Amino acid sequence: MRLYVNIDHVATLREARKTDEPDPVQAAAECEQAGARGISVHLREDRRHIQDADVKALAESVRTVLNLELGAHDEIVKLGARIKPFQATLVPEKRQEITTEGGLALRKGDRRIKGAIDGLQRAGIRVSLFIDPSLKTIDMARELGVPAIELHTGRYAHTWRKGDAALNELQRAATHAKDIGLAVHAGHGLTYDNVRPVAQIPEIEELNIGHSIVSNAVFWGLEEAVRRMKKLVIEARNP
Ligand code: PXP
Repeated sequence: MRLYVNIDHVATLREARKTDEPDPVQAAAECEQAGARGISVHLREDRRHIQDADVKALAESVRTVLNLELGAHDEIVKLGARIKPFQATLVPEKRQEITTEGGLALRKGDRRIKGAIDGLQRAGIRVSLFIDPSLKTIDMARELGVPAIELHTGRYAHTWRKGDAALNELQRAATHAKDIGLAVHAGHGLTYDNVRPVAQIPEIEELNIGHSIVSNAVFWGLEEAVRRMKKLVIEARNP
């Protein structure tokens, strides 16, 4: 199980003052020092947190791997293809949303998504699709020829205190995706309190976690926040 840390909110804090601190490059290095296996950033069309220069600098500085989250917008896809992160995760993006609210709505014959996948894959980038844990959507992702999907854990994150329905849905989705040959990632809304059951799903090989880690870094420091999350994830897998 690989823990990738999403450091968007380090840039959110910097953009609150439009200054040069805190620095996402330094944050990435500290996450790696604490055991993160990858660094994720979302270059949004509105550039509300991560900026183009951040992605370029991180592509140079990250020693593990860079996972660039991006919407299927021509301009961003072209930029991603030029920067060549190890992995690109295509996500839906709406301007007014506070965060990525749901998975990609995949439809047969959707030229925009297919074009984005092709453009990124031509540049040698591993492409993953951020989708809801629906078996039909997973089959569509497979048809689109990507090697990996990231299951949106938002419903689980909202409902985990009330029962296991969303967890069971994630388990079923992960099993199905692995069965048809897809690598399975997961993320969104995972916290120190709710990560364990998701980390225990054996088919999931990568978790992307941002908000909770960066939030708790305010109290514990970033390295300690990553270390504590990594410990939870590893212990969930090897009890
Ligand atoms: N995975 C994807 C594809 C995302 O867009 C995000 C949020 O940017 C995350 C994971 C991380 O979510 P959170 O910040 O809630 O941990």
